[in-house]
Amino acid sequence: MTTPTVTITDNITGKTSECPVLVPTYGPRVIDTKDLYKDLGMFTHDPGFMTTSACRSSITYLDGDEGKLFHRGYPIEQLAEHSSYLEVCYLLLYGELPTRTQFEEFEYQVKFRSNVHERVNHMYSGYMYDAHPMSIMVGVMGALSSYYHEALDLKDPVDRDLTAKRVIAKMPTLAAQCYKYAIGHPFVYPNNSLGYVENFLNMMFSHPMSTYIPDPVAVRALEVMLILHADHEQNASTSTVRLAGSAGANPFACIAAGMVTLWGPAHGGANEAVLHMLNEIKTPENIPKFIARAKDKNDTFRLMGFGHRVYKNFDPRSRVIRKVCHDLLGHMPANVNTRLFDTAMTLEEIAVKDEYFIERKLYPNVDFYSGIILKALGIPESMFTVMFGLGRAVGWIAQWLEMMQDPDFRIGRPRQLYVGSRQRDYVPIEQRG
Ligand code: CMC
Repeated sequence: MTTPTVTITDNITGKTSECPVLVPTYGPRVIDTKDLYKDLGMFTHDPGFMTTSACRSSITYLDGDEGKLFHRGYPIEQLAEHSSYLEVCYLLLYGELPTRTQFEEFEYQVKFRSNVHERVNHMYSGYMYDAHPMSIMVGVMGALSSYYHEALDLKDPVDRDLTAKRVIAKMPTLAAQCYKYAIGHPFVYPNNSLGYVENFLNMMFSHPMSTYIPDPVAVRALEVMLILHADHEQNASTSTVRLAGSAGANPFACIAAGMVTLWGPAHGGANEAVLHMLNEIKTPENIPKFIARAKDKNDTFRLMGFGHRVYKNFDPRSRVIRKVCHDLLGHMPANVNTRLFDTAMTLEEIAVKDEYFIERKLYPNVDFYSGIILKALGIPESMFTVMFGLGRAVGWIAQWLEMMQDPDFRIGRPRQLYVGSRQRDYVPIEQRG
């Protein structure tokens, strides 16, 4: 069968470039413009990569128009219902669901590496007492490159695999340490007799003076939240990890670079913004006022946690997390202050019935519910982006692994449309007017 092509013609010179059309498993066909510069002496221009595919990937597929999200072909709804976060990690890394023996071995390998070098624990004291946890996470994750550098051979698949396991294993420990440092509590060491999520909650909430008994509903809510954040194909932080990795940088430093990107409010900061908004709304009675503001074109206020750039139908993750969120809130002890949660649930109820939101397909997104879940779990707002990173770490490292094995792998180096000055001669300072 002949490869389909698209012919691009330069209407000035009459030259043409025959560009192969690549056919994906799902999604729009992709024009391969690699030879465009050779054929026509031209680049393509696409700020924000709105229509540019930068890599081949077989990890995640998402269709924003249809509201679909698959990991290795499995719909996110099925993974969230039946799987565990560690099993999803295995799937993202190795492409298949594990057998029981494979899973047990993987779980052991991850748990075995959950501790961090004792010297890492001393790094924290260099941070300002009120440092944002993301600034600490960026630093300590980057610092792991000093522990795993010389001995790490990026060309060796065994070393790369070990790196992936180390990243997944150490993320919860580092995240919990950031929290403990912020509140002035002693660090809690990982406990390998606990499951991945329970162990994280234990490192967050236990204390030498008191035992923490994890609540199974809370554990499941966090597990689902982590599964839903595990990967989202070539988003900004993942693309950052790939770009840094394409230069052959240390993978722990690449993950730190991904963290930096995630920290931006346009990416990983939305769940925190939801809580700020709910705190501003205060009580359900104030909701109509805020809805009116969100609809007012002269007001910059938007309902945080509503709408999505890619999902114009519904975010498939929202349906799953909505149920988990409602279950968790229904299960919360009576002594918990539920005013904030009442406000959130009433806001959801009013907005989804409002013509403005229906017309524009503005549904509550995953961040709306994840913010509420995290709050209900007792995790402070400043830790929310760290929690997103905890889930996304596997996506970053799975995409890095895939890139390192890709035969097309080369350093990422975009081109540009230069619009600056033409060549000119240097003028000595005394002659400048
Ligand atoms: N509240 C009120 N109106 C909104 C909202 C909102 N949250 N979102 C969009 N609109 C309106 C917007 O004013 C516009 O109206 P009109 O057509 O009358 O001018 C219309 O809906 C389309 O908006 P848009 O800005 O063109 O949509 P977009 O795809 O560029 O923006 C978005 C997507 C997520 C940036 C936006 O919906 C938003 O700002 N939402 C609130 C912030 C938020 O929750 N962000 C988290 C997104 S999920 C992150 C992830 O998956 O990692």
